[in-house]
Amino acid sequence: VGPCTFGVYVGAVTSLAVGTWSRTAMLGLILGRDARGVFAFSATCTHSGCVVGAPDTSGNMVCACHGSRFDGAGRVLNGPAREPLQHYRVRICAGRVRVDRGEFVADTDRTPVT
Ligand code: FES
Repeated sequence: VGPCTFGVYVGAVTSLAVGTWSRTAMLGLILGRDARGVFAFSATCTHSGCVVGAPDTSGNMVCACHGSRFDGAGRVLNGPAREPLQHYRVRICAGRVRVDRGEFVADTDRTPVT
């Protein structure tokens, strides 16, 4: 499977500036981009499955259901959640970002923007 048909299309890489995050609530994903590239993780809280709120300018997110907080890499800042948000494989084809929720990656994984 080549990168252009991989996973689901989540948006143009140009719409994701370095140092920002965006939530695609419909797809249940948080997208982020840092100096090393693009990353994506689940927006589903690991406590009881609510969808976390949109990231603030630092990337931190709050789950409104019971108050868990996560940082911009999906790591737990405070519970009741105990597990981080799951990261997924990202590929970029012709400027289009695609995410495969069937392939888990580490929270340090980045897809470079070339
Ligand atoms: Fe998110 Fe409980 S479901 S804190």
